[in-house]
Amino acid sequence: MADELTKGLEGVLAAESELSSIDGDAGRLIYRGYDIEDLAAEASFEEVLFLLWRGHLPTRDELDEFTAAMADERAIDAAVLETIRSLAAADEEPMAAMRTAVSMLSATDGDADAPADDREAARRKARRIVAKTPTILAAYDRVRQGESPIDPDPDLGLAANFLYMLTGEEPDDVAAETFDQALILHADHGLNASTFTAMVVGSTMADMYAAVTAGVGALSGPLHGGANQDVMEVMFEIDESDLGPREWVQRATDEGRRIPGFGHRVYNVKDPRAKILQARSEELAANGDDTWYEITTTIEDYLSEEKGLVEKGIAPNVDFYSGSVYYQLGIPIDMYTPIFAMSRTGGWTAHVLEYQADNRLIRPRGRYIGPEEREYVPIDER
Ligand code: CMC
Repeated sequence: MADELTKGLEGVLAAESELSSIDGDAGRLIYRGYDIEDLAAEASFEEVLFLLWRGHLPTRDELDEFTAAMADERAIDAAVLETIRSLAAADEEPMAAMRTAVSMLSATDGDADAPADDREAARRKARRIVAKTPTILAAYDRVRQGESPIDPDPDLGLAANFLYMLTGEEPDDVAAETFDQALILHADHGLNASTFTAMVVGSTMADMYAAVTAGVGALSGPLHGGANQDVMEVMFEIDESDLGPREWVQRATDEGRRIPGFGHRVYNVKDPRAKILQARSEELAANGDDTWYEITTTIEDYLSEEKGLVEKGIAPNVDFYSGSVYYQLGIPIDMYTPIFAMSRTGGWTAHVLEYQADNRLIRPRGRYIGPEEREYVPIDER
């Protein structure tokens, strides 16, 4: 048995998967062989979910049936809504509220008692989780603002329906398409921390709700999903500071601060998802307020040209431009990470389904570095 320890499991191969692949040197991401740029430009989020779960791109009929089936599952039970109200009243963080509400969905799932190896029940649970998560998040945001939750509209796609449930207004085509693209870009990304977490839980043959709840927990940290909100907070800090973006980022890096939205364990070049979101941010800025787009590009230019960070492989990741995109879509900043999670429920469930189909319990070893032998001292003698 190998005794080599790899801190943070960096570069360790832990499983085989047909779902997504990252070329960190070329800056390329594929889902089941399809380039993320093509999927973002041509497909819908539902089409990508179908691809991830079923293995092929749907025909028109397959997609229509699938989209309708997903839309049918959007409503959440009154008990879940009650819990959402309690969480909002307690001023719970949105990611924590999501974690609790997703976990609670199992209480009203008709397949809750299905045996662990019932693959079809696991698929249905996956579909319900992905369909209901947007409803949970939109309801949470409205309730905490003293507004009534809005029922899902089955005639809208998942992305447009989320924006509708969040704001009460049907989004225009640009907003709906931009958000749909953002969901596609966040749907899967190899064995990242939250996906691996979901797989570890799934490998015990625990059910899909347990796996996804754990995934939400892993994604909530600032080194993973939390960075998109941090990026926007940095933008506000710069906007309110007396320093220009260039001077601000110079001081921050001189002080040894990490710039959120920069760096990635897998990419040594600019994340391809960041390139796509940058273009969307630029488009939105051209039709509105360009403050945020200007700040992000100035930071990127400075870190690249003056600090040489980009050349060192510390380049913009997916979170760097998603913040300004969401901000321009009018989404509250503490909903950015939940939105990432809402999209990633597709990837988590796809990986759990794939892994459980040929399951082996994930159980690594740790190297013990504590004392070998100590004599037990009774409590009154210590
Ligand atoms: N700003 C400045 N320097 C950085 C940054 C940054 N954002 N990220 C890494 N570095 C430096 C770091 O200081 C270190 O330098 P040195 O070797 O001189 O000490 C070097 O780059 C390697 O950093 P690391 O922490 O060993 O690299 P890692 O692979 O463990 O970390 C990371 C990857 C994402 C945790 C890290 O880049 C980071 O903290 N970034 C900021 C947070 C962020 O944007 N997270 C979102 C990740 S992408 C979304 C997702 O897939 O979840």
